[in-house]
Amino acid sequence: MKRIAIYPGSFDPITNGHLDIIERGRHLFDEVIVAVNENLSKNPYFSLSERLEFLKTAVKPFSNVRAEAFTGLLSTYVKKQGANAVLRGLRAVSDFEYEFQMALMNRRQNSRFETVFLMPDEKYTYLSSSLVREVSRLGGQVRGLVPRHVETALKNRALKSS
Ligand code: PNS
Repeated sequence: MKRIAIYPGSFDPITNGHLDIIERGRHLFDEVIVAVNENLSKNPYFSLSERLEFLKTAVKPFSNVRAEAFTGLLSTYVKKQGANAVLRGLRAVSDFEYEFQMALMNRRQNSRFETVFLMPDEKYTYLSSSLVREVSRLGGQVRGLVPRHVETALKNRALKSS
């Protein structure tokens, strides 16, 4: 039986920390589906289609990884995909409370829902999409923190809004 993991998130935008988790996850599972959520409550910086395109380009080199968008409940999407687990990255203790709540709420929706937490390389423990957006928007450097195509998109976006 093929073991499938879903890696869900807002990915606004994908960072090298996310890619580190994808790289780890793809060695543990036969297939990883990176699932980007609209997450309008977070007032996204990039549109859903832009975020999905960034993801698709970033995971192109990995034969057992694909990117998709999903709407609605994660627990429903996971069931529909026949996935065995959901991957989430844990950077620091501060992530734990939110992740713990989500994992248990998701399991309440679907008792077979398992969340697997992976720790990124320590060089990414401070990295987040929100910090990357802020630094870039204010003219700072994000080289090495996001894939090159995302760095270019961030620069264009910052220029457009300046
Ligand atoms: O990258 P994020 O913003 O931390 O990802 C959060 C995400 C998209 C995984 C979460 O908001 C989610 O699963 N949204 C889908 C709707 C849902 O199922 N909500 C209940 C979560 S317990």
